[in-house]
Amino acid sequence: MHKVIAIYPGSFDPPTNGHLDLIQRGSRIFDELVVAILRNPEKAPLFSVTERAAMLETLTKDYANVRVDTFDGLTVDYAVKVNATCVLRGIRAVSDYEYELQMALMNRKLRPDLETVFMMPADKYSYLSSRLVREVAQLGGSIQGLVPELVDQSLHARLDPAYKLRDLVVEEAKLPKRKSKPRKKS
Ligand code: PNS
Repeated sequence: MHKVIAIYPGSFDPPTNGHLDLIQRGSRIFDELVVAILRNPEKAPLFSVTERAAMLETLTKDYANVRVDTFDGLTVDYAVKVNATCVLRGIRAVSDYEYELQMALMNRKLRPDLETVFMMPADKYSYLSSRLVREVAQLGGSIQGLVPELVDQSLHARLDPAYKLRDLVVEEAKLPKRKSKPRKKS
């Protein structure tokens, strides 16, 4: 019997517990699952592709049939390159459906033999997205329980210098303004 290889493409900036939940589910139904990080030159990411790949490699090290890779260009072309016959995507809420349906049908138009498989993450992650995690973390909110500890630490390491700078600017603004001496006319 032939092996069923699936790719799980995405930005993963940063990886969340929702992504990991889906990777775990995918690893149970596919023989091999390739977590494929898009190298997107148009987006200014919070974490570089190398950083995201390193995080995902650590986070998935216990799954023998999961590996991490990066790609650019079309997802369908990458799928062919790694002999995948399925694309795994997560659907959290109805709002995801339209975009995901468009992508799945476009991918089907490009490669009719490539099947998209949708899976739902645990309902406790149904509101979770990398974009919200970035936003909350950047504004100093807690993201505990929403991302793995490793990602939480990486977010702090990335954002703490920005917080310190912000606090410094706020403190500076509170200081009484020094009066400048009137200039003598020459
Ligand atoms: O995590 P994201 O940002 O929702 O992932 C989107 C992704 C990477 C799956 C999508 O942007 C993609 O497939 N990009 C590669 C280029 C491509 O194939 N575009 C046509 C998609 S129909």
